[in-house]
Amino acid sequence: MRYFLIFFSLGLIMLIIGCTPGTKDSDNQQQKSADTVRVSYINQNDSKGKELKKRGAIIAKLSTIAIGEALNKVINEEGAERAIGFCNLQAMKITDSLAKVEGVIIRRIAKKNRNPLNKTNAVESKIFKQYIMEWLANKTLRPKLSIDENDHPVYYKPIITNNKCLQCHGKPGETMPQNIADKIAKLYPNDKAINFEVGHPRGMWAITFPDIIASKN
Ligand code: HEC
Repeated sequence: MRYFLIFFSLGLIMLIIGCTPGTKDSDNQQQKSADTVRVSYINQNDSKGKELKKRGAIIAKLSTIAIGEALNKVINEEGAERAIGFCNLQAMKITDSLAKVEGVIIRRIAKKNRNPLNKTNAVESKIFKQYIMEWLANKTLRPKLSIDENDHPVYYKPIITNNKCLQCHGKPGETMPQNIADKIAKLYPNDKAINFEVGHPRGMWAITFPDIIASKN
C-alpha cells in the first residue's frame, strides 16, 4: 500500500518539478582500468541480502514505471523530438521523491552514457562488464548487490533496450530518426548512448542504501 501511494504521488510530483539543464562537469574523478578494480559483493542469499534485493527490486520497478510513463506521456503529446527537451530528460528528478521517502539514492547509470553525470564509476564499469559477459553467454541477468567505498550496499539491476528506446538510442538515420539524432548530438556532444539494438543491455539501475553498513562476504 505504501508503494502504491508513493507511485501515485510521483505522478503529481512530475507535474510540479522544476527543470534545470544538467551541465555539471563530473569528470574530475579518474576512471581506473576495469581490470585493476575489485568488486566487493554482499552475500546475495542470506536473509539480509535477500531483503535488500527485495527492496531494490521494488524501487527499481517503481522508477522504471515512473520514467516510462513520463516519457510516453511527453512523446505521445509532443512527439519524440520535443521529448528530448523534457528537461533534457532529467529523468532522475522523477525518482527523487521516491528516493527521499525510501532513504536511498537512485541512479540510472551507463558505461555508454549520454549525460556524463550518469556514468558508471570504476567498480560499476566492472559490474556492467560482468553483465555483458553473462548476456553474451545467454545467461539470465540477475540483480547484484555490492558494497561501495563507504561500505554501503548498492543494488544493481540491468536496464535492457526495447523497441521504444531506439528512437533516441538506436542507429542514427536508421532506427533513430535523423532529426532526433541531430538534436541529441547538439545537446550531448559526447553522447555514447547510440547504436543500441533491442535486447541489448543499455545500463543499470543503481540503488544505494546510505543508512546501512554492509558486511562483506
Ligand atoms: C525521447 C528520447 C528518449 C527515449 C525514447 C529514451 N531515452 Fe534514454 N535518454 C534520453 C536522453 C536525452 C538521456 C539523457 C538524460 C539526462 O540528461 O540525464 C537519456 C538517458 C538514458 C539513460 C541514463 C544513462 C545515460 O546514458 O545518460 C538510460 C539508462 C537510458 N536513457 C535508457 C533508456 C531506455 C532503456 C529507453 C527505452 C525504454 C530510453 N532510454 C528511451 C533520451 C531518450
